[in-house]
Amino acid sequence: MREVAVIGIGQTKIDEHWDKSLRELAGEAALAAMAEAQVSHVDSIYVGNMLSDISNLQAHLGSMVADWIGQRFTDAVKIESACSSGSAAFRAGYLAVASGEVDVVLVVGVEKMTDSPVSEITTALATAADADWEVDHGLSFVALNALIMKRYMYEYGWQSTDFAEFAINAHANAVHNPYARFRKAITESSFKNSPMICDPINLMDASPVGDGAAAVVLACSDMLPSNASKIIVAGSSAATDSIAIHSRKAPLRLSAAELSTQKAYEQAGIGPQDIGVFEYHDAFTIMAALSLEAAGFAEPGQGPVLAKEGEIKITGRIPVATFGGLKARGHPVGATGIYQIVEVVQQLQEKAGKTQVTNHDFGMTQNIGGSGSNIVTHILKRVN
Ligand code: COA
Repeated sequence: MREVAVIGIGQTKIDEHWDKSLRELAGEAALAAMAEAQVSHVDSIYVGNMLSDISNLQAHLGSMVADWIGQRFTDAVKIESACSSGSAAFRAGYLAVASGEVDVVLVVGVEKMTDSPVSEITTALATAADADWEVDHGLSFVALNALIMKRYMYEYGWQSTDFAEFAINAHANAVHNPYARFRKAITESSFKNSPMICDPINLMDASPVGDGAAAVVLACSDMLPSNASKIIVAGSSAATDSIAIHSRKAPLRLSAAELSTQKAYEQAGIGPQDIGVFEYHDAFTIMAALSLEAAGFAEPGQGPVLAKEGEIKITGRIPVATFGGLKARGHPVGATGIYQIVEVVQQLQEKAGKTQVTNHDFGMTQNIGGSGSNIVTHILKRVN
């Protein structure tokens, strides 16, 4: 396998973009990444997206994006893996370059959710769950996460307020991110007093819907000057679990995250102690806790301890959601995995401004599709 480097990044603000279409959002991020990479042509394009068929009545995003950005006739395809679509597309692009088949790849993650009323988006998001065994019985995606959180609180003795610091930390970091959906800090009391969405998940436990796109250009490292400092993909791994939660032997463990993280650590030749920044999938605060545990930063059931003790802050043992995370930067589902990559690249390039972590060579992203059923982990490394 060849070494692969990220040579350009681009992103749009996550917002309610009434004035921008799906193709305009994707194009804005893609052309920014290509401009930074100083390339006018790419060999192939991978588009991460979950909901366009249902919410925008637009499938076929590979052709649409290629044409819109002036790359007509280029090999291009959409990749769908629920909320981990962005990272699945990144992994496909990484493998294409690493294999030697192509030299320069564009990966775009795009999602436009706010054109649809929340009831329709809730129905669309539920397609990530098991239609026969979960959704048919009336469960929404938030409800599935609420069931996991309820059980977790029962098994380990946590109160719902013990999850507050995950949201407070994310919002505090998003204040400094011009691309974030919510640039406002929250307090413990605003967490406690926020409306209940689906007991025990309240508004501040949940990520918001939003529109946005992020993009990266990947290239074979051989194409860069030999003494250039670069950000390379040191680990890339994905794993699946049962799509329905009830089929899992340990529903409070993210087994697919454990497997994909372990493999990514092995590929990079490192362990959790070497990771300087972790962009995890805090779609709900319970997923933040489970992701930290699966990645080896806390024992099962002890994720909230890291948050309560301040270890997830910029100055803590394992900084997370350093640009606001899904909770406050926002979660345009199929684009999220690429936002995570873009953010770790900015951290490793020391371009993270007020939320810069100190001097680390490795950063990790973890993108969760479904309620833990398809999990993609990447480790990026700074090489000087
Ligand atoms: N966190 C903080 N504030 C939020 C928020 C969130 N997650 N979602 C909405 N808000 C704010 C809005 O900014 C708005 O504030 P304002 O009145 O000051 O303008 C207010 O709450 C109401 O916003 P609205 O858009 O009407 O909320 P909603 O009730 O339609 O939707 C949720 C809120 C939480 C139900 C919706 O965002 C949701 O379904 N989130 C989960 C999405 C999901 O499951 N994603 C996949 C996970 S893998």
